Amino acid sequence: MLKDKVIATLGATGGIGSAIQKHLHRQGAKAIAIGRSAQKLEALKAHSSGQCIVDLLKPADWEVNLKDLPPLDGFVLCSGVLDVLPFRAAPVGTLAQSLEVNVNAPAMLLRHLLRAGKIKPGASIVFIGSIAGIRGAIGHSAYTTSKAALLGLMHTLALELAGEKIRVNVVSPGLVEAGMFTAVRATMTETEYASYIKSYPLGLGQGEDIAGPVAFLLSSDARWITGHNLVVDGGVTVT
Ligand SMILES: NC(=O)c1ccc[n+]([C@@H]2O[C@H](COP(=O)([O-])OP(=O)(O)OC[C@H]3O[C@@H](n4cnc5c(N)ncnc54)[C@H](OP(=O)(O)O)[C@@H]3O)[C@@H](O)[C@H]2O)c1
Repeated sequence: MLKDKVIATLGATGGIGSAIQKHLHRQGAKAIAIGRSAQKLEALKAHSSGQCIVDLLKPADWEVNLKDLPPLDGFVLCSGVLDVLPFRAAPVGTLAQSLEVNVNAPAMLLRHLLRAGKIKPGASIVFIGSIAGIRGAIGHSAYTTSKAALLGLMHTLALELAGEKIRVNVVSPGLVEAGMFTAVRATMTETEYASYIKSYPLGLGQGEDIAGPVAFLLSSDARWITGHNLVVDGGVTVT
């Protein structure tokens, strides 16, 4: 279904992003990896049809770095940061920092690509959110705020871009044993971790569990789906 579709993944060097990148490449897509580290991108070379270096915090470089990006049939925005701190202890600027990397910079990058004609009519855009966007999580005030904001952005972009048949959706994972999982795990004792695992009816997820649903939203099977938040969480939000 994705054969020869040109699909870029921002944050392809991360735990979940690399699973998505490899999955899209295996499905026959022309999968382009976007990341800020040349070294990490090099490690993905065998799973990429192209690569671009982009640091979300250096917007002045985007024009040059993205000028050779071909027009896209699909764009996955999978970058993100997680700051775990009790709200009372959070310094001024914590929320703003997370909102910058998790929402504002990716949104402005997408705006840049739309203006440059790099997103084709009929394309599919998939943001990676989190179940933290629809429920609270102790110590995650900056993260939950940013992931909830992403949903608001997606709803409006879905409406604004529908005229060009560009679809915009979010995939919201539960806890996946990859990437920023290490930081979350570090905040838990053994007992807390064991009860956390038990709270997931299907157990914790793997990167590949997210890649499949993302590929579905990128495909023409999902051609009538836009403005949707697809929760992929092993059932934890219905417990
Ligand atoms: N793991 C989970 O349990 C989980 C659950 C729900 C949602 N998510 C979401 O899934 C996405 C991927 O998370 P992950 O777990 O795979 O974490 P990760 O391995 O830390 O991946 C984060 C990605 O974002 C990139 N990034 C961060 N700051 C950047 C910047 N300034 N410019 C460009 N790229 C930047 C990182 O680049 P580098 O590789 O260069 O650091 C990395 O590729 C995130 O949106 C996260 O919120 C994760």
